[in-house]
Amino acid sequence: MVMQPDERTSERSMPIVLAVSGASAQQLAERSLQLLLENQRHVHLIFSRGAHEVWNAELGVQVPVDPEAQASFWRERLQCDRGVLECHRWNDQAASIASGSVRTRGMVIVPCSMGSVGRIAAGIATDLLERVADVHLKEGRPLVLAPREMPWNLIHLRNLTALAEAGARIAPPIPAWYTQPESLDDMVDFLVVRLFDSLGENLKPIKRWRSDQP
Ligand SMILES: Cc1cc2nc3c(=O)[nH]c(=O)nc-3n(C[C@H](O)[C@H](O)[C@H](O)COP(=O)(O)O)c2cc1C
Repeated sequence: MVMQPDERTSERSMPIVLAVSGASAQQLAERSLQLLLENQRHVHLIFSRGAHEVWNAELGVQVPVDPEAQASFWRERLQCDRGVLECHRWNDQAASIASGSVRTRGMVIVPCSMGSVGRIAAGIATDLLERVADVHLKEGRPLVLAPREMPWNLIHLRNLTALAEAGARIAPPIPAWYTQPESLDDMVDFLVVRLFDSLGENLKPIKRWRSDQP
């Protein structure tokens, strides 16, 4: 089916769900949020309970649970007043995006813990993140997971396979060396931009293999 230009425009302006679960590499989540907002995107942000714990343990930062306080926290921390940011409480299963009737462009879970992988693969929705992932699969919308664990055991591999079979895209945060990164920030930007390539976004010019195009 060929989309009409006005349909394509409305598709572009639809919100993106950025979900963050309790795995290492929370810098990827923070940079994702920053680039989405700087690019004037409408973001629904879900922080799992595990993500709150990892921020506390690894970064010594308490991310507020209350949605309004959390939105203010990110605006202040990222020094960005662009885009639209709607934060959700980790266990708010009555949030707008918990229903398939609310349209989105897709959902990215970065980083994604193996706990979240397992529960989503089993169709178990104990919190908002898992419910919204389930909704994206049932509605046939893009669901991209950036699982962070090493090494993967057979259960992880089977769960990831089940998710790929159900239509999710598995995009582990594996850096590229052909870009000759000069810093960790370069690597983080490359990983984040490649992750959102999956949703048809181009959040920032990065070095792409044998290409002058940004
Ligand atoms: C500091 C810290 C780092 C963690 N890193 C990972 C990780 O990289 N991958 C992973 O699968 N779990 C990791 N975990 C364990 C998860 O946070 C834990 O299984 C949690 O219940 C996941 O919940 P969630 O998926 O709802 O966020 C980590 C936990 C802590 C405290």
